[in-house]
Amino acid sequence: MQVPLLDLKIQYKALKNELDEALIRVAESQYFILGPEVESMEKDFCDYLNVKHSLGVSSGTDALLLALMAIGIKPGDEVIVPTFSFFATAGVVSRLNAVPVLTDIDPVTMNMDPNDIEKKITPRTKAIIPVHLYGQSTDMDPIMKIANKHKLIVIEDAAQAIGTQYKDGRMVGTIGHIGCFSFFPSKNLGCFGDGGLVVTNDDKLWDNLYIMRVHGAKPKYYHKVIGGNFRIDAIQAAVIKVKLPHLDNWSGGRRKNAETYTRLFKDRGLAQEEGRTSFDNMNKVLLPKAVYKDKAQKVKNYHIYNQYIIRVQQRDELRDFLGSQKIGTEIYYPVPFHVQECFADLGYKNGEFPVSESVAESTIALPIYPELSEEQLTYVVDKIKEFYTKID
Ligand SMILES: Cc1ncc(COP(=O)(O)O)c(C=O)c1O
Repeated sequence: MQVPLLDLKIQYKALKNELDEALIRVAESQYFILGPEVESMEKDFCDYLNVKHSLGVSSGTDALLLALMAIGIKPGDEVIVPTFSFFATAGVVSRLNAVPVLTDIDPVTMNMDPNDIEKKITPRTKAIIPVHLYGQSTDMDPIMKIANKHKLIVIEDAAQAIGTQYKDGRMVGTIGHIGCFSFFPSKNLGCFGDGGLVVTNDDKLWDNLYIMRVHGAKPKYYHKVIGGNFRIDAIQAAVIKVKLPHLDNWSGGRRKNAETYTRLFKDRGLAQEEGRTSFDNMNKVLLPKAVYKDKAQKVKNYHIYNQYIIRVQQRDELRDFLGSQKIGTEIYYPVPFHVQECFADLGYKNGEFPVSESVAESTIALPIYPELSEEQLTYVVDKIKEFYTKID
């Protein structure tokens, strides 16, 4: 038995005819950058996300960078970001010579802790970037409240969360002022290279985003502002257009796999109580708490499981063991921003963000892609059980 972390070939095989046709259509058109494929994809996203404007861009990282440029971030401005995310969330801030100001995360969702934001606001603060990490919505209500109170822009890093619904039914990425998505191949909706999307309901921001995607030119060769080359290829747009109608099904498949994992971990006596944030001695695995229900037991928050993340003890030893059993895993992410070498000049110290530090030491991503069989999921959980039985 083998369980790779991700196997994209299965998805390609299932859609091969349509995808190959789309690639050939672009080849025959010889229209490679922006153009009708991209415009058509953008329209599809306006409908899918229920948002006024959407703009295909060159990557999720460029989506964030473009968003910061479009809101006029200048050197010395401060942007509040969680210390625990993929590097791009903070990297784009520093690339504009602005300052990433870090918050800790919530121990259950591993998303930005809204209680840690307000105390970080200074007269130089311009924006907040909450990240919907692993495909689960951040608690946006308190963040929007703080942002409105202090007149800050909210840029949602929804790179891992395309199709995730917030508890009120809105799609994440459409709640703040600008939403940013990634089509990196390992995302729930991945293209055949790099690609991304920016969305907004704000006409003024849209104007800035639109012209800054092509070096700030309007009309062509007359540059109002300095932008960049943030264009997406027609090939990527054509691929995404084929895949988008399948996205909710795939995310549903991931959710079903997550439910199976939960059941198996519980059956084998490995799981801590739901929502627990620290380990007791007996049970070894903290499961993701993914769906919130209100008092009427109505589901309020869907997770799309771009990653299925559990927290475990003896993480690195477990990972080595699973590797030896042909089970693919990954650590997202081993080092929070405040202890990254490149951010040493921000002046943070180890110990300053205890939740992020403890999460970074204990998270492990298990295979979750929709085409996994129950047999494979069972094999993964049985091997985890075997590991802990051996070392006990
Ligand atoms: C949270 C987060 N932000 C930003 C990005 C950047 O996206 P891309 O890899 O498309 O540049 C990613 C992608 O891995 C991500 O996971």
